[in-house]
Amino acid sequence: MRERPAGKIEQSWRRSPSRRAALGSLAGFLLGSPDLFAQQDPFRDHSRVPGLDELLTAFDFEEVAYAKLPRAAYNYTAHGGAGEFTVRRNREAFQWAAIRPKSSAKAAVVDASTEVLGTKMQFPIMAAPSAAHVALHPSKELGSYSGCTAAAGTPMIVSYATSTPFEEIAAAGGGPLWYQLYPREKLEDNRPRLERAQAAGCKAVVVTIDQQAAYYDRSAHDRNLSSRRRRPSVRPGVKPQNPYRFTSTRLWYEWKLFDGLRPMVRTPLLAKGILTPEDALLCIEHGLDGIVVSNHGGRGLDYSPSSLEVLPEIVDAVGGRIPVLIDSGFRRGGDVLKALALGAKAVCLGRVPRWGLASFGAAGVQRALEIVQAELVLAMKQAGCPTLAAADRSLVRLDLP
Ligand code: FNR
Ligand code: LAC
Repeated sequence: MRERPAGKIEQSWRRSPSRRAALGSLAGFLLGSPDLFAQQDPFRDHSRVPGLDELLTAFDFEEVAYAKLPRAAYNYTAHGGAGEFTVRRNREAFQWAAIRPKSSAKAAVVDASTEVLGTKMQFPIMAAPSAAHVALHPSKELGSYSGCTAAAGTPMIVSYATSTPFEEIAAAGGGPLWYQLYPREKLEDNRPRLERAQAAGCKAVVVTIDQQAAYYDRSAHDRNLSSRRRRPSVRPGVKPQNPYRFTSTRLWYEWKLFDGLRPMVRTPLLAKGILTPEDALLCIEHGLDGIVVSNHGGRGLDYSPSSLEVLPEIVDAVGGRIPVLIDSGFRRGGDVLKALALGAKAVCLGRVPRWGLASFGAAGVQRALEIVQAELVLAMKQAGCPTLAAADRSLVRLDLP
């Protein structure tokens, strides 16, 4: 049968604005369909978790960790104190620091190696102490250690609160290990721990003087999903200080603690959690060999400043007498370069290797660290810094709000 030639009305409809509008609404209808939406979801709520080689920034690992971990384990790593002002400020601070490139300098080859208190490292990047890796991956701290070691021998600071004894981690062999201590109030109670870590070969001891004051269980609490009510943890013989599960331990610290600990430690001894020049000077007075400028990744005192913004004044007060390390909020190689330029000797990463471990075990730790290392090398090249010595304070313009 011959097709009937299109009539005038039909022809005009084919080209008419109303047809276009009709097709437009059909397309809108299809795009609004739940099936197509599913393909646009970020993988946070998607059933396909990307593979290791698809992850290109440290941030990507957080998304995978979120997808893979039980919610409580994700929350424990993610959150911070109270309103999380300081958690956010730790990231915001990097926006206040601009890198001023030395575009005339030649930096085709970059050497980012350094040495901190006798520990040599290919990059000025370490793994910060963090607790209970068993919640992240069955390989626990051994996975973290082998991932760190594979990433150019990244030194790992082993937490006081591990799921694997320090000796067992050390026996696995690999890059340098430091040991972090949460001191006990009775001085002698610290000796056995310190002895064990030193006998197993830790290269330095880091005493954390700030504290995780937050127990973040907010989402479970708000959605009434937790079987656990917010109650004070009642230890035998300890009177709860308030009924709201606010931590009330570890507030007894005094500087003379370090006078007592010093003779127990044969390695370099550092304090972690310094945020003011006054405290940095007290560290020197009490015989410490180094400090870590840190707000515990925003997990302690909320409304404390970001570590980056207080770094220059602390570096000035210390005046080169002891090395100043830093952590809290570091995710990118460019972040690391800013801190180095402002006078930090090395940068510690807390959440980054935790996300790596949760995502893909040791291989995830390795890749997450290598990404930050590679970003640092690129940033140094782009900024015209062939060595860390070239990354001086003139490299950064800090505009605090
Ligand atoms: C920590 N941190 C920590 N610090 C410490 O001295 N001993 C510890 O056991 C722990 N545990 C711990 C657990 C978790 C889940 C996190 C996120 C952090 C703090 C850590 O060493 C470091 O100060 C911060 O993590 C640095 O901030 P970023 O890198 O996580 O932003
Ligand atoms: C924390 C403690 C363990 O940040 O330091 O969770």
